[in-house]
Amino acid sequence: MLRLGVNIDHVATIRNARGTPWPDPLRAARIAEEAGADGITAHLREDRRHISDSDIDALMAGLRLPLNFEMAATAEMQTIALRHRPHAVCIVPEKREERTTEGGLDVAGNDDALARYIAPLRDAGSRVSLFIGHEPRQIQAAARIGAAVVELHTGAYCDYDTEGRLSERDAELAALREGAALAASLGLEVHAGHGLTFDTVGPIAAIPELMELNIGHFLIAESVFTGLGPAIREMRRRMDEARA
Ligand code: PXP
Repeated sequence: MLRLGVNIDHVATIRNARGTPWPDPLRAARIAEEAGADGITAHLREDRRHISDSDIDALMAGLRLPLNFEMAATAEMQTIALRHRPHAVCIVPEKREERTTEGGLDVAGNDDALARYIAPLRDAGSRVSLFIGHEPRQIQAAARIGAAVVELHTGAYCDYDTEGRLSERDAELAALREGAALAASLGLEVHAGHGLTFDTVGPIAAIPELMELNIGHFLIAESVFTGLGPAIREMRRRMDEARA
């Protein structure tokens, strides 16, 4: 069974464009649940450009699905995560000037600091996930420091597909497959996400070691035309079809 985590950050982006209370990310999360999502992902960025602290409060209080709380490895975010104890904490690299999370975390280069950082989160009962690229040394480092999960960054694969750079796309897909197999062989639960669309989800969903995909921007974009529930159901259908 491949789980679908719906990332609702960009519901908050639209809300924040006008400073109104709508559209409400919690309402989006409830619709996602009805449409068959298995979890909700929300990224509380340091600059609060989309999800806010009060959104996290509302999601923790009002959500039945497990929350995957995405955050940078800062002291402030650790305090917030320890207060809420979400189902999962996904640690991502964060740069203030980036439009979206551009690359994976450098676990291999920061293994001691990250091991110390994730220990209290794990002790508090959250599953710790590290958002990384498919390089073997990053995957090995994630296993070494005791992460439960790695989420493999599918952004480059999706960008190559959009740009029609098909041989690079296929090489990236092959590397993601190898990365997923290595991670699973080391006892890590393997997730993937970033940039996935109806067109790109199939080959990723077909990777047998993957347990969860986290998808946001495309679903929120598609919901402008079809509604959020139908967009999620169609994504779910394509994921299931790829697995069948
Ligand atoms: N997974 C992680 C770790 C992310 O940072 C993001 C983007 O916030 C996603 C998945 C979802 O990416 P997208 O919004 O492009 O589907």
